[in-house]
Amino acid sequence: MAASETVLRVPLGTLSTSCYLASFLVNSTPSLSFKPVSRNRTGLRCTNLHEISRVSKSLARGNSLHSPNCGFKGKKLVFTICKCQKHDVEENIRSTLLPSEGLSNELKSDLDEMPLPVNGSLSSNGNVPSAGPKSIEDEAWDLLRQSIVYYCGSPIGTIAANDPNSTSVLNYDQVFIRDFIPSGIAFLLKGEYDIVRNFILYTLQLQSWEKTMDCHSPGQGLMPASFKVKTVPLDGDDSMTEEVLDPDFGEAAIGRVAPVDSGLWWIILLRAYGKCTGDLSVQERVDVQTGIKMILKLCLADGFDMFPTLLVTDGSCMIDRRMGIHGHPLEIQALFYSALVCAREMLTPEDGSADLIRALNNRLVALSFHIREYYWLDLKKINEIYRYQTEEYSYDAVNKFNIYPDQIPSWLVDFMPNRGGYLIGNLQPAHMDFRFFSLGNLWSIVSSLATNDQSHAILDFVEAKWAELVADMPFKICYPAMEGEEWRIITGSDPKNTPWSYHNGGAWPTLLWQLTVASIKMGRPEIAEKAVELAERRISIDKWPEYYDTKRARFIGKQARLYQTWSIAGYLVAKLLLANPSAANFLTSEEDSDLRNAFSCMISANPRRTRGRKKAQQPFIV
Ligand code: GLC
Repeated sequence: MAASETVLRVPLGTLSTSCYLASFLVNSTPSLSFKPVSRNRTGLRCTNLHEISRVSKSLARGNSLHSPNCGFKGKKLVFTICKCQKHDVEENIRSTLLPSEGLSNELKSDLDEMPLPVNGSLSSNGNVPSAGPKSIEDEAWDLLRQSIVYYCGSPIGTIAANDPNSTSVLNYDQVFIRDFIPSGIAFLLKGEYDIVRNFILYTLQLQSWEKTMDCHSPGQGLMPASFKVKTVPLDGDDSMTEEVLDPDFGEAAIGRVAPVDSGLWWIILLRAYGKCTGDLSVQERVDVQTGIKMILKLCLADGFDMFPTLLVTDGSCMIDRRMGIHGHPLEIQALFYSALVCAREMLTPEDGSADLIRALNNRLVALSFHIREYYWLDLKKINEIYRYQTEEYSYDAVNKFNIYPDQIPSWLVDFMPNRGGYLIGNLQPAHMDFRFFSLGNLWSIVSSLATNDQSHAILDFVEAKWAELVADMPFKICYPAMEGEEWRIITGSDPKNTPWSYHNGGAWPTLLWQLTVASIKMGRPEIAEKAVELAERRISIDKWPEYYDTKRARFIGKQARLYQTWSIAGYLVAKLLLANPSAANFLTSEEDSDLRNAFSCMISANPRRTRGRKKAQQPFIV
């Protein structure tokens, strides 16, 4: 590793200043420096010496933004942009992309609906899209490129939505870590690696940036939910501005939800980057290795919990609002398992990491056993639960979590097909959440958290329940929706999560990509093909909504954004993978023999399996 790439990453508490200073090299772009910032004005600052008028001229010519030359002014790098000139740039872009003279009113209003490039950028190749009929895929690429966010002239991510008609932007103008994953994969599959590399390295610098909520800071290693490139006045010079990266760890998010999934997705994307590009230099960097370890330490830290699953609050993943998923939701467990497997592959053995690797391996075994055994649900298992004995105080209880059979919901009895099954949404003492959550199930297949048989059974289930899970638009985020009193109590009467809308049984086109990876992995791509075909009937006409409502996903979601980037990217990844299924390998993981052996040892010692065979021990009498 080149000396210039070494990054100073110091635990915050060990510095006398509130922040730390880091510098690193991003691709071929000039070295960027980050100056220490105050506690409450957190964010990375990058500055360069380009004058905006030069950038503006370049944009007007239709050229792509070139990497700027960053330079030092005094002790820090400065990005010299004058506010009024910045405004000129936006005007330039609008007039380049949206020529208004000589157009019919109809065409003008169509153009007005087109999303604008973000941060004043044109498409990454700098070209104005050519006229003429476009395929849905071409349109999707144009839109994806228009959603690219630039920082100091380098592409670093994509905004969540680029909906020109939305009256309230909220935080959809930010780069969400989870939303960028399908964008990043689409770019990797297209051979455009820089944006992914930049995203990985910049977000790493945001990790554990000190952020507080009411004086409390989250654990070190936490990755933000999202970040924004802000242009702010330069300290001491009102006529100048600089760009800063401002992360949100949930301290500004609706409901103040903690983004537990961000770091896990970051590790998964990092491994995908290495596998796809063959460039292992990123994952081998000292700062990146440290970043991986910090995420792992946070996840593997001892707590009060008895279970190997991660204990989290409601809304800590894609479902980022109160939906009754606090505890041990499947989505987090699948991503956790996947991140552990990916990290194991990438960690370079060195003195001092042996304990961490041991803890990681132990957790992998315990986690896979726990999920495969206790989360699995099929007709046979429902029948077992139906006949459960309760109040078993013993070491070898069959009904370990004291589930009362009356909990089996009436919808499930008829819903479960004879063939197939799935992993339930959550498991707690005396509580099984029987809802089907798509992302957790699909990612359990992708990561091999589910066994081979279970993975096939999940896909059998998807096929058997196509009318409910897919219907008119893939793919329901969960099934079924909560209604009535249950909705009122569990969501807190959330008007956005009404039955069959948004997180409460809405259909999310972005899930297409996970469905595609899972079905390709299991050698059943026809499932994804069918789903993509369905999506293509409407998704572009409907302007790429964030989600669809109603039981059959017939309406564009009540409050859905249009031109939602991960709907666009999810579709693209599905198309690209179906055209080149072997590329799915850089996202999937196969179970290795060590894990398989450990798993079979545990399974043969499990009382649920052995009770019938050997005489059960006498339960303790209380
Ligand atoms: C919604 C989704 C969340 C996503 C965000 C930005 O809040 O629930 O998963 O990251 O929008 O698209």
